[in-house]
Amino acid sequence: MTDIKRIGVITSGGDCGGLNAVIKGVAREAFALGIESVVIPHGYAGLYNLAKLDKVVLLDAERVSKIEASLAGSEAGHSRVKIKKIDDPDKYEKIKKGLKKFKIDALVISGGDDTGSVVVDLTEQGIPCVHVPKTMDLDLQSYSVGGDSAINRIAVFTRDLKTTGMSHNRILVIEVFGRYVGHTALRGGIGAEADAILIPEIPVDIDVLYKHMKVTYFARIERSDVKAGTYIIVVAEGIRNASGEMLYDESIPPDAFGHRKLAGAGKYIRQQLEKRMKEDPEVHDFMERTGMFAPGVYMIPEVREVTPGHLVRSGHSSAFDVNFGYKVGAAAVFLLKNGKFGQTVVNVDGDQISYQPTAAVIKRREVDLREIAIFESVGICFGREPQKYKYKLNATEEAIIRFE
Ligand code: F6P
Repeated sequence: MTDIKRIGVITSGGDCGGLNAVIKGVAREAFALGIESVVIPHGYAGLYNLAKLDKVVLLDAERVSKIEASLAGSEAGHSRVKIKKIDDPDKYEKIKKGLKKFKIDALVISGGDDTGSVVVDLTEQGIPCVHVPKTMDLDLQSYSVGGDSAINRIAVFTRDLKTTGMSHNRILVIEVFGRYVGHTALRGGIGAEADAILIPEIPVDIDVLYKHMKVTYFARIERSDVKAGTYIIVVAEGIRNASGEMLYDESIPPDAFGHRKLAGAGKYIRQQLEKRMKEDPEVHDFMERTGMFAPGVYMIPEVREVTPGHLVRSGHSSAFDVNFGYKVGAAAVFLLKNGKFGQTVVNVDGDQISYQPTAAVIKRREVDLREIAIFESVGICFGREPQKYKYKLNATEEAIIRFE
């Protein structure tokens, strides 16, 4: 057992749902064990600047009670700072000085793959820390706080957009965060019964998407007594264009971890669909048949892209993320007590706290493409020719159902 008397709490990378539950989980468990906890503000930027602070915020009972676990975002604040990249040869010494100044013995650091890589780095530098998995992208090997909240928000926004889509008979392309993987687009899109879901793991064949759109959307409107219908496409921001390139905002330089600001996937899909519709005589016939055609004004159905952006990780956390956040936050304190530095809490199941080396947990996890075919068989388009679902039956004694 280690003799830790004071823990510093850091949240880092992009904010998301469930983080305040992590902070409360750490603070309350620590308090119960007679350990103090304090906030290190602004993620790793705050850690680097710690020695310059006059005071740190103590997470005592009164302060913790002011934190609303069900609110997304983090009371501890965030930054996207990679310690190794800081242009200062004394950076690690400064961090150690700051920790000493405030008598902080160890750190609980919540974040995703980038944050986790810094946990590995700090551990190698002799700074005791444990990692709590957090990322709305769900690209870690373990479940990470924030994923469920983002999925639910994507599903709600997408579902809500159907009313405006239906009123204008528009095709809606909803571009969502998720960086290089399609977990949130996939689960949120399914949750909202999107017609098509485009993810980075599957190169998009626009002709397949276009065909699916025409069949589904035309039939929907023609079958409707008031000739109303929409077609919903959820597109992950990380898909690639026809040249195989990811689309990003060129005006924003890469961050400290080398990531570009992804943008433009929705616009790209919209432009591709519009181009095909303009050249397709069947679209003209459809517009005439359904009474929508207005020469020179309304010649093809409208396509609009909607980009909820940071909204998908804002607002309120899902109940699942509050549960998970509390558990893994509290469990992180037990890892510290047991000297499990450089490790990530992956789950708390009954009396079992599972953990793994952070270096292993942060390896990127992509969508399991074997599962996609089951959604294709129920009619959802993934921008490729639908594949046959290949299954294996598995007789099991245990009824284990896990999220993701
Ligand atoms: O990694 C989380 C995430 O929300 C990604 O899905 C998204 O691409 C990125 O952060 C946005 O980053 P920022 O908040 O720095 O704009």
